[in-house]
Amino acid sequence: MSVLKTENLSKTYNSKGNVTFKALEDIDFEVEKGEFVGIMGPSGSGKTTLLNLLATIDKPTSGRIQINGTEPARLGDMELALFRRRQLGFVFQDFNLLDTLSIKENIVLPLVLEGLAPRKIEEALKPYAELLGITGILGKRTYEVSGGQKQRAAIARAMIHQPAILLADELTGNLDSKAAKDVMESLKDLNETGGATIAMVTHDPFAASYCKRIVFIKDGKFYSEIRRGASRQMFFQQIMDALSLLGGNFDDIPFARD
Ligand SMILES: Nc1ncnc2c1ncn2[C@@H]1O[C@H](COP(=O)(O)OP(=O)(O)O)[C@@H](O)[C@H]1O
Ligand SMILES: [Mg+2]
Repeated sequence: MSVLKTENLSKTYNSKGNVTFKALEDIDFEVEKGEFVGIMGPSGSGKTTLLNLLATIDKPTSGRIQINGTEPARLGDMELALFRRRQLGFVFQDFNLLDTLSIKENIVLPLVLEGLAPRKIEEALKPYAELLGITGILGKRTYEVSGGQKQRAAIARAMIHQPAILLADELTGNLDSKAAKDVMESLKDLNETGGATIAMVTHDPFAASYCKRIVFIKDGKFYSEIRRGASRQMFFQQIMDALSLLGGNFDDIPFARD
């Protein structure tokens, strides 16, 4: 069953002076339930544009998006806000946790705002806190925990609604390599044990090597796709090879890490 599907998805930006720029062109992209997909490409290839369209933060110029059988483009503002809250989970490079709340309060905030009973909130929290390895830090404040722990808390907050899909944009971008590894291991557990469906944009081949499939885009167009076999180390090498074929500028790819 496909959780997410795009058909001929295109996005053209209009800047000042009526200059138009085609950031995405005819993207057909599908994510099955239980998949863990990475989206890679050089800087400026359209990764964030694609993720913002999938996240319903931005609207396509043409083409279609379906998420869990619904076309977000057909929803009104109120329905769209509800749809986003119920069906989608987001994690970004910045953790966006509130410093005045504890880690636990941050994670359960979406459920508290919905008026869920405390017992139900505890029940919802427990499995994610365990899967993400943050049970021991739930009572701490954001400034008392590490970057990796903060990002895992942000993932728990994104998942607590049990969204149809978790969308992540460069979620390891602000982390050192040890923390990035912890976060990716947690995401892998969330996918394999927790059954979460995940689509992740990254320019980091190490983070990408935890995915089961990688889609490469270049100049706003689909370029190629690879699937992971048994070994993550081997997949990492395949990703490096694919990136060197792809060419372009990758800013700060940590080429020696694994
Ligand atoms: N709001 C915008 N207005 C005009 N051009 C944009 C806008 N957002 C992104 N772009 C351009 O679209 C292209 C794709 O950007 P983006 O999706 O951010 O790429 P990536 O995330 O792969 O680095 C880039 O050339 C970028 O300059
Ligand atoms: Mg980007």
